[in-house]
Amino acid sequence: MPQLVLTCLALMLTAGAARTEQPLDIVIYGATGEVGSHVVHEALDRGHRVTAVSRRPEQVDIQHDNLSVVKGDLLDKASVTETVTGKDVVILSVRGVIGDSGSPESALQFIAAEMLIDAVFQQGDRAPRLLHVGGSGSLEVEPGVRYAAKLPKILIPKNLEVEILGQILALEFYRKVDDVKWTYVTPPKNFTNGPRTGVFRIGGSRALQDDRGRTRVSRADFAVALIDEAERARHVREQISVAY
Ligand SMILES: NC(=O)c1ccc[n+]([C@@H]2O[C@H](COP(=O)([O-])OP(=O)(O)OC[C@H]3O[C@@H](n4cnc5c(N)ncnc54)[C@H](OP(=O)(O)O)[C@@H]3O)[C@@H](O)[C@H]2O)c1
Repeated sequence: MPQLVLTCLALMLTAGAARTEQPLDIVIYGATGEVGSHVVHEALDRGHRVTAVSRRPEQVDIQHDNLSVVKGDLLDKASVTETVTGKDVVILSVRGVIGDSGSPESALQFIAAEMLIDAVFQQGDRAPRLLHVGGSGSLEVEPGVRYAAKLPKILIPKNLEVEILGQILALEFYRKVDDVKWTYVTPPKNFTNGPRTGVFRIGGSRALQDDRGRTRVSRADFAVALIDEAERARHVREQISVAY
């Protein structure tokens, strides 16, 4: 389908998403984070039941009848399995680097992807879907060239480089997983603190630019895209990107 048609379709679908009639049980890892906190609000505003996970649950200062706050660490397999059991959707929106090996395998985004796929797979037919908040470094900026390859390495802090490469590794890992329903939801280069407009585009593995060459979206609108995907499951086992 031509890109323009896809774009129009996406705009029509995303503008003013309605409350779902069937509330979902959604687990959010990274609920205290810059992105994840918007996702918690978006999910609650649409009537879903949210389990917000944090290593320090006292950090979650939202109160809502449909919100449970639980203590959990993605490095603790037993706690991950317990947390995801019986849920409909798990959203992973975390960052970090474990240890000082400096290898992409030490990015929390990759470690958590492996951990969650394993925990979700164990649930069999009742397995929740997994939505992974990805990294823009994984997006293609020209055929066969990822944005990560264009970054000036010398200016990037080592841990950030590990996370960028770890996000690419996570995507490559997911692409080999055909027995769990995952979606890798990729932000553009720039997140903004702008408002929730409900109007944005959904693309694939290519970076989306607006008509002024900018690649950006507000965290609030990114959260809309995530919960749209949680509700509609339109892009199972795909990388999608979200941008204006
Ligand atoms: N342009 C881009 O591509 C771009 C830009 C920014 C972010 N991102 C991506 O967006 C996602 C979220 O980023 P953010 O900026 O919202 O991150 P953030 O504000 O730094 O939050 C990080 C979250 O990770 C959680 N976390 C860390 N270690 C954990 C562990 N062991 N177990 C469970 N949770 C853990 C923290 O939870 P607690 O401390 O409460 O446990 C916190 O909520 C990441 O995947 C990041 O790579 C992409």
